[in-house]
Amino acid sequence: MSIQSQMRRITVPEIRAHKDAKPIVCLTCYHAHTAKLLDRHVDLILVGDTLGMVIHGMETTLGVTVEMMILHGQAVMRGSQRALVVVDMPFGSYEESPEVAFHNASRIMKEAGCQAVKLEGGTRMAQTIRYLSQRGIPVIAHIGMTPQNVQVLGGFKTQGRTPAEWPALEADAKAVTEAGAFALVLEAMAEPLAARITELVAIPTIGIGASPTCDGQVLVMEDMLGLNPNPPKFVREYAQLGPVIAAAVEAYARDVRERRFPGSENVYPMKKAQ
Ligand code: KIV
Repeated sequence: MSIQSQMRRITVPEIRAHKDAKPIVCLTCYHAHTAKLLDRHVDLILVGDTLGMVIHGMETTLGVTVEMMILHGQAVMRGSQRALVVVDMPFGSYEESPEVAFHNASRIMKEAGCQAVKLEGGTRMAQTIRYLSQRGIPVIAHIGMTPQNVQVLGGFKTQGRTPAEWPALEADAKAVTEAGAFALVLEAMAEPLAARITELVAIPTIGIGASPTCDGQVLVMEDMLGLNPNPPKFVREYAQLGPVIAAAVEAYARDVRERRFPGSENVYPMKKAQ
C-alpha cells in the first residue's frame, strides 16, 4: 500500500469532463520551480517537446529524445502536486509501430511518473492511440500544425486556411476520438475549422493559435511570460520577464565588479573570537 500525498491530482476523466464545460487551463512547463508556481492555477501541465527549442536552443523539436522528456517530466512531477502532468512523445519514439509506441510511452509514464502522454498525428496515428489507451496509457492527440512534421509541411504554417483542407483535418479529429484519445490539441489551425472540430468531437479540444471556442487553451509558458524574443503571432504576453531578467543580471554584475557583494559573515554569522 503506498503512502498517498495530501493533495490529489486532477485525473484524466476530470479533464475529459471539461467538454462543453469550464475551459481547461493548460501551460507547458519543463522544470520544478516553475511547475510549483503554475500548479495551483492550471488544470493540466504539458511537458512539451518544445523544450528542445526553449530550453536547449534547438531549431526544431526533431532532436528531442525520450531521455530528455523523462528528465524534464521528473522535474515537473517533483514541482507539482495537483495538475495533471502530460509528457510529449518525441519524434521517432512512436511512429514506427504501436508496439514501439507502447514501449516508449510506458517508459515515460514509469520513469517520469506522469499521468498521460501526447503524440502528434490524426488518422495515421489512430491505431497507435487505440493500442496505447487500451493498455492503460491515456493519450492526448495533437493535430493541425504538428511541429514534428515541420519538414514535410515546409515550415510552421497555419493549417486549414482553405475549406478544401478541412475534410482531412476533420477526419483526423474523428479518428483520434474514436481511437480513444481523451483530449485533442489543435495547433495553428484556422479559427472556423477549429470551432467546427470542437463541435464535432466528443472530447475536449485544447487550442493553441486556434479558436477561443475550444474547450481549453495551451501556451508555451516562456512565450506568455515574454521570454521569447520572436514569439508566434497568436501569443498574448502576460508579462515581460526578458527585460526584468536582463536588468537583474546587470545589477548583479555591477555589484560583483564594484565589490558590493555581501561577504559570508552576513550569511553565516560566526561566533566572536574569544
Ligand atoms: O510541445 C509543445 O509544447 C506542444 C504545445 C505547443 C502544444 O505541443
